[in-house]
Amino acid sequence: MEAKVAPIVSLGAEIVERIHRLAAISETADVITRVFLTAEHRAAAELLMGWMRDAGMTAQLDAIGNVCGRYEGDRPGLPCLMIGSHFDTVRDAGRWDGPLGVIAAIACVGDLNRRGKRLPFALEVTGFADEEGVRFASTLLGSRAVAGTFNESALGSKDRAGLTIREAMVAFGLDPEHIGAAARARSELLGYVELHIEQGPVLEAKQLPVGVVTAIAGATRLAVELRGMAGHAGTVPMALRRDALAGAAECIVAIEEFCASDRDGLVGTVGYINAMPGATNVIPGMVSFTIDMRSPRDSFRKLAVADVVRQIEEIARRRHLALEINVTHENRTVPCAAWLQQQVAEAVKDEGYPVFELPSGAGHDGMAMIDIADVAMLFVCCRGGISHHPAEHVEPADVEAGARVLLRLIENFRANA
Ligand code: GLV
Ligand code: MN
Ligand code: MN
Repeated sequence: MEAKVAPIVSLGAEIVERIHRLAAISETADVITRVFLTAEHRAAAELLMGWMRDAGMTAQLDAIGNVCGRYEGDRPGLPCLMIGSHFDTVRDAGRWDGPLGVIAAIACVGDLNRRGKRLPFALEVTGFADEEGVRFASTLLGSRAVAGTFNESALGSKDRAGLTIREAMVAFGLDPEHIGAAARARSELLGYVELHIEQGPVLEAKQLPVGVVTAIAGATRLAVELRGMAGHAGTVPMALRRDALAGAAECIVAIEEFCASDRDGLVGTVGYINAMPGATNVIPGMVSFTIDMRSPRDSFRKLAVADVVRQIEEIARRRHLALEINVTHENRTVPCAAWLQQQVAEAVKDEGYPVFELPSGAGHDGMAMIDIADVAMLFVCCRGGISHHPAEHVEPADVEAGARVLLRLIENFRANA
């Protein structure tokens, strides 16, 4: 679709080139995996801070490892419009989920800086260090620290190697006793805006490059552990077994069947499972797995989670398995602020695109930032709706459209009276 105002400088080309450069920072050469408090986290943060400084911002790492860039307004020390997203990834990830929002925001500030333009408010670009929650059993750690809602009890959460967040922070060079220093005050922020790929198929089906987000669906994550009895795969009769993996399999099918009704946008996923001791000829004695359940209707999600827990308890009882089940993450549905959403819509319209509104099924840092700021989001179309997958892709023209809308939003931004 043609934009009304032809871009003077292409923002998209620079953004796409940087997306590929950031994607090269990964735990493994052949796939993208970049998780919290690792050497890759450090290298990505350094690269982003360099780009921030080139764009005329001051840049620093905060007390949890987020990257924070600031571009002063027409006088120093003004409250800011914060634009952010995350630069950590899932395992075997795509390259756009998260980084597009950070890199596009830097490109917009760079454009203002090239034109010597200052605004009657400051701009801050934040790259959150942990949104995906892949390494530890908790998510949104970066944005929760900024929102001042980081739960200190999370410091004891362990990664798969048994390292706690506390230990990983020290190894990274951060002080776990000092996380509070990352917190920002509500009075410092005029609003929080995030540009992100849609991660679903709706915009592509409508042939739209961008969409205005109405709300971010609430989510609950659980960690489940089933303990049975390990034993010899050749000698223990089937009727006498307490096979933890067979029990987990029954739980997984029950979750899938329960969520299959598609009521109130309910979705449920078991994304990680580990069976111990993990040998061909040994009956699995212990299994741990995760559950992720989401619905934009919070009351319904809570009832659904309670129902699934009841079903798992019943399966464990019948199979004589010991059960431990814990909620590791819970977020209510976050509505985008009407006044800010309106300004996103105006920017979309001013760039010559139809205004289309849609909710987000995926989680975003706005779910944490809502505690200190009004939140809005702009979605950019991604191919086939594919995300959390190496095939994730955004067309360069859609990158350009998204960046143009974000720049327009920034330049026309008016604080809520
Ligand atoms: C993050 O991508 C999430 O929705 O879990
Ligand atoms: Mn993601
Ligand atoms: Mn994301």
